[in-house]
Amino acid sequence: MKELLLDLARGAGEIALAHRRRLGELVVDFKAEKDLVTAADREIEEFLRAEIQRRHPDHGILGEEQAERRTRSEYRWVIDPIDGTGSFVHGQPFYSISIALEKAGEIVAGVVHAPTLGETFCAEKGAGARLGGAGVRVSSRARLKESMLATGFACLRNNQPRNNLPYLAALLPRLRDMRRYGSAALDLCFVACGRLEGFWELNLNYFDVAAGLHILAEAGGTHSDFRGARAGLYGELVASNGLVQREILAVLASVPA
Ligand code: IPD
Ligand code: CA
Ligand code: CA
Repeated sequence: MKELLLDLARGAGEIALAHRRRLGELVVDFKAEKDLVTAADREIEEFLRAEIQRRHPDHGILGEEQAERRTRSEYRWVIDPIDGTGSFVHGQPFYSISIALEKAGEIVAGVVHAPTLGETFCAEKGAGARLGGAGVRVSSRARLKESMLATGFACLRNNQPRNNLPYLAALLPRLRDMRRYGSAALDLCFVACGRLEGFWELNLNYFDVAAGLHILAEAGGTHSDFRGARAGLYGELVASNGLVQREILAVLASVPA
């Protein structure tokens, strides 16, 4: 199945690159004031759905831009056609196509493809994580002050009352530095390959992180909600190389609710 995910991601990547060559003509709509969706997002999801249904007409499909296709199959595809639409619209390289495959509710394979970076992360359950043809593992940095973390601000985009700014203020002074790339899927893959030690964000969606969390787990990483459990996971996600997870959680816990 991993080969199919890779083929689908590459085909979707070609569509993204074709739109990127004509960004000035790109139709951009607004799901909310800062929540963009473009003709590229929609075309890529349509392509992925059509290709999946042609090969596996009985499989379920959950995608960001269309209604879920519910079936009786134990297989369900989880798609974010462009993760980092803001980056894409602004001509920046940090956007990705994220595709995960669930079997009986458990993710068994995932791919995050970054067409402009020319990087493809993938994983299959029990077979480890890969960047292109090479295996990848999380970093061995074990102290927050040696670490780089990434985050995002969907909370501000969605005007959530509880937002990420106090957590950023608490964590940033304790880090070597932080990054805000613009694609949660890529952030998780950068933790998986050791470029980052961790990532945290509020108000993500399952389709943002399904493939990235699978790749991170297969690379030896871990994730939880802000309390170290898996209850409110996508509302408040902390992912890391496992070595700095406890330190991150302690800092987050120090922020008044
Ligand atoms: C967004 C990106 C961004 C994150 C947002 C997500 P989208 O996905 O992953 O980095 O901060 O929370 O919604 O909307 O571009 O698919
Ligand atoms: Ca997304
Ligand atoms: Ca998206």
